[in-house]
Amino acid sequence: MMTTNTDFVLAVEGLTVSFDGFKAVSDLSFYVDENEIRVIIGPNGAGKTTVLDLICGRTRATEGSIKFKNRELTKLKEHDIVKAGVGRKFQNPSIYGDLTVFENLEISFPRGRSVWGALTFNRDAEVINKIHEIAEMIFLKDLLHHQADLLSHGQKQWLEIGMLLIQDPQLLMLDEPVAGMSVGERQQTAELLRKITKGRSVIVIEHDMQFVAQIADKVTVLHQGKILAEGSAEKVKQDPKVIDVYLGH
Ligand SMILES: Nc1ncnc2c1ncn2[C@@H]1O[C@H](COP(=O)(O)OP(=O)(O)O)[C@@H](O)[C@H]1O
Ligand SMILES: [Mg+2]
Repeated sequence: MMTTNTDFVLAVEGLTVSFDGFKAVSDLSFYVDENEIRVIIGPNGAGKTTVLDLICGRTRATEGSIKFKNRELTKLKEHDIVKAGVGRKFQNPSIYGDLTVFENLEISFPRGRSVWGALTFNRDAEVINKIHEIAEMIFLKDLLHHQADLLSHGQKQWLEIGMLLIQDPQLLMLDEPVAGMSVGERQQTAELLRKITKGRSVIVIEHDMQFVAQIADKVTVLHQGKILAEGSAEKVKQDPKVIDVYLGH
């Protein structure tokens, strides 16, 4: 009998997607705890990004289930999945370049789309406090009034993480967040991720194994849409199968 442990924030079971008969993700099952950073690694084309696409509703599963806090996500629309508490960062930052850091965070604050809710003093104070809190966390508190276009590549990535954090998602998914970052920025990003896990779960797709070892509670290695290995960064690094298909190259 198949039983789902309801303590997990995310339970993915038997997840499959085929694109014209090609299974990019094939009978995949994995479970993510609260306060956990799960890192997904694997060669190009392994299906990593597709897994995130399936969880956030951008791609529809052919089979299987995705339970987030015991709610089935596979039938929900993308924006309802966001409302349920799932935030996702894509590989290229989608920030508003002509707006300031402050304004980018402000427009990301969930207002419930209500004309009534948006216009009270209390609400404004709450928003401003939250923007300052997030800006400090993402190392941009001295740049609040800078135009976003003028930020470095790494700072833009942090801003986008901030724009997700301000929505307080319980599951945050990041696709290669440190690609193109300097060593120093990677270090800061690792600190940032370790700070934001309290009360939420984070899934990160990443290639840099040094960064992976710094942040991962657990690593899932994907290969051809299936799990090749799973465990601590230390353990999967020494797994001959992982070395053979991924780390040895
Ligand atoms: N929408 C799609 N239609 C057809 N094939 C796709 C689609 N999305 C991904 N794929 C294919 O699925 C495989 C996995 O892709 P992807 O998830 O992007 O891999 P990764 O992120 O691990 O590099 C690749 O072979 C890719 O070409
Ligand atoms: Mg990818």
